[in-house]
Amino acid sequence: MMSKGKLFALSAVVAGCFMAAGAMASDKTEPRNEVYKDKFKNQYETWHQTSESVEIVDALAQDPNLVILWAGYGFAKDYNKARGHVYAITDVRNSLRIGGPMTDTDGPMPMACWSCKSPDVPRMIEEQGEDGYFKGKLGSGGAEIANTIGCSDCHEKGSPKLRVARPFAERALEALDTPFAEASRADKQSMVCGQCHVEYYFEAKGDNKGFVKFPWDKGTTVADMEAYYDAIEFSDWTHALSKAPMLKAQHPEYETWKAGVHGKNNVSCTACHMPKVTAENGRKFTDHKVGNPFDRFEETCGTCHTQDKAFMENLTKERQTKVKELQLKAEKQLVQAHFEAAAAWKAGATDAEMAPILKDIRHAQWRWDYAIASHGVAAHAPEEALSVLGSAVDKAADARVKLAQLLATKGVKQPVAMPDISTKANAQAALGMDMEAMKAEKELFKQQILPKWDAEAKAREATYK
Ligand code: HEC
Ligand code: HEC
Ligand code: HEC
Ligand code: HEC
Repeated sequence: MMSKGKLFALSAVVAGCFMAAGAMASDKTEPRNEVYKDKFKNQYETWHQTSESVEIVDALAQDPNLVILWAGYGFAKDYNKARGHVYAITDVRNSLRIGGPMTDTDGPMPMACWSCKSPDVPRMIEEQGEDGYFKGKLGSGGAEIANTIGCSDCHEKGSPKLRVARPFAERALEALDTPFAEASRADKQSMVCGQCHVEYYFEAKGDNKGFVKFPWDKGTTVADMEAYYDAIEFSDWTHALSKAPMLKAQHPEYETWKAGVHGKNNVSCTACHMPKVTAENGRKFTDHKVGNPFDRFEETCGTCHTQDKAFMENLTKERQTKVKELQLKAEKQLVQAHFEAAAAWKAGATDAEMAPILKDIRHAQWRWDYAIASHGVAAHAPEEALSVLGSAVDKAADARVKLAQLLATKGVKQPVAMPDISTKANAQAALGMDMEAMKAEKELFKQQILPKWDAEAKAREATYK
């Protein structure tokens, strides 16, 4: 292990290199996936098969508690489960979370939102540097970010050689473990996924609030990242009901995988999600259809384990069920805590009275979210998920004990009344969200802006060699 000082020095050098490269035109990234259609036929075709994972699962409709937990934040508007890599750009464009930006300067979201969606991101960073890429609102990059997650996100230009294409990810991974260039083959296979499937937040530098950073300076456990966020007093948003300074976990797959038995045994993401398979001509290649490992059981789990597919799939399902049960318990406590806190504010509670309660709510919900943000957690680290969810339930209960005392001193009748939140629509109505207006705004954006972005991107790419 190198000393921390040495690691920091190294990352500074790497950052410097990228800045220098930013001054030149990009010759390191070919963002267009189709270019490799013939040269790497099997890889291209299996990559394209991620289009078979087409289903859109509306997570808010499945579980309306989420609307309340994310009240005041974009995720309460619209949140679907992940699907195939080829849909990444389409799904951002369609999400109500980005609103309907009619100009380059319209909000609400910054450029940073594109960061895990496209090889045009490393292309732009190589052309403009990170300062250039992260500047401005998401709409300003609409015509630039044209190609979905693909070859150049994980490979050097025109080559099977792996790379981490995002300098902010490369710095974080290097500070955590080892520089990419010196990593083992298995580590590289996981690091390419870890440039996107991680927890991150938007860091402010100067007058720009939108630089992607991974909150790993103190480590990658749920407590390490919580301590990091607390120390810098960061919050993603202020909760609309409780006014708690909230954290939104993104998709900490790399972190939870690390905490689980496979991560600890250095079984890479690709051993389960991108196995080596045999082509018709008998040659081995990597299946690029990143999806559910059980679809190719013999080439994934079956290469290391002797149990059969039904046994392993059932075991995973049982774990998913256990995680789900505890998840719902935590949600019930948290939803009530948010409404009780709102009642306390209404009854005249002071900032000082509320501060310890809001801290419990912040920590409880962060832990809940960290444990369930990835559908994969029950496979990656079931014990970690259950123990983190257990701590979420405890902290939410702490908040509610304090709330019960405070509400009693304010003369508020308990239990505090709750609106009907039995469906997504009811929960959104309870928060006074005007969904019709948001949908209308989105339709206009789709009709008027998306064709412009596509035409501009096409014209730009026509000038490529
Ligand atoms: C999400 C990351 C990722 C994306 C996207 C990706 N690859 Fe790969 N690719 C990998 C990994 C991981 C390997 C296996 C490397 C190893 O064996 O160590 C690989 C291997 C390869 C190889 C080496 C031969 C083989 O099959 O093992 C080729 C060629 C290749 N990819 C081409 C492509 C092409 C073409 C695209 C775009 C259509 C693409 N890759 C997209 C991660 C990716
Ligand atoms: C450039 C960023 C990026 C990289 C690199 C990346 N992913 Fe993803 N991945 C995403 C995004 C974004 C989605 C969600 C796409 C959507 O729902 O539109 C996703 C979705 C997925 C899904 C869900 C697929 C489905 O059909 O439900 C799996 C599994 C997954 N990724 C695993 C991996 C693995 C394993 C790797 C590394 C080999 C990897 N990803 C590399 C960004 C990335
Ligand atoms: C590259 C090898 C490899 C692959 C692929 C692999 N595993 Fe494992 N697995 C291990 C190792 C190593 C351990 C830990 C040592 C042990 O318990 O044997 C382990 C442990 C386990 C355990 C016992 C620990 C626990 O979590 O209770 C289960 C269950 C398991 N794996 C399921 C799976 C499933 C399901 C898949 C496919 C989705 C899979 N494994 C793919 C290597 C692998
Ligand atoms: C031991 C095998 C194994 C390893 C290693 C592994 N995964 Fe998974 N992963 C699974 C299984 C099994 C699922 C659940 C599939 C299901 O039930 O849909 C899953 C689910 C996921 C999902 C959720 C997909 C969805 O539909 O929402 C993502 C994303 C994901 N994994 C990414 C990763 C990343 C990134 C890594 C490495 C950091 C990784 N996985 C390592 C087995 C594995």
